Amino acid sequence: AEKSLCELLLARIHDVPDYPKPGVVFKDITPLLADPEAFTALTEAFAELCARYRADKVVGLEARGFILAAPVAVRAGIGFVPVRKVGKLPGATLSQAYELEYGTAEIEIHAEAFAPGDRVLVIDDVLATGGTAEASLQLIRRAGAEPVGVAVLMELGFLPGRERLEKVLGEAPVDAL
Ligand code: PRP
Repeated sequence: AEKSLCELLLARIHDVPDYPKPGVVFKDITPLLADPEAFTALTEAFAELCARYRADKVVGLEARGFILAAPVAVRAGIGFVPVRKVGKLPGATLSQAYELEYGTAEIEIHAEAFAPGDRVLVIDDVLATGGTAEASLQLIRRAGAEPVGVAVLMELGFLPGRERLEKVLGEAPVDAL
């Protein structure tokens, strides 16, 4: 029987216990990136979501979100926009701070990244607390575009990231492949 997309992807995501610190299980996607069958299947699944939601742009979240979102943009025939950690974008930027477990983080987008009303799909590798993705949605709206969904490779189901994003997204969906 043909393997499901989920089986194909899960077989190429490796759990690394106690990385980057004791008690944390890191999800290593480098085996997936190194496997052309799995990486292609993932890219095509994300690209189908772009078509379904009639996205005009994909936003990738630094850093692993860049790796996943860039080929999706090419496959879907739409533009790629990076959301970066603070201080990395050369043009006029909008920035958004958000809470971490300890302290705060800040991300930025180019203020002129979108045409008014652009439909934008956010892509990242992992949805954990949802803090990063939520801040990206705020940036996209502040930049004059419309988020039409958040799509991730995996969500950590024991954290309330999905609920957090659904509150902000309204009707737009959260998809975890
Ligand atoms: C990780 C992951 C997501 C985010 C998820 O990125 O790639 O972007 O955290 O966490 P959250 O849902 O709790 O916000 P990280 O900050 O480790 O950046 P990196 O991809 O540059 O390593």
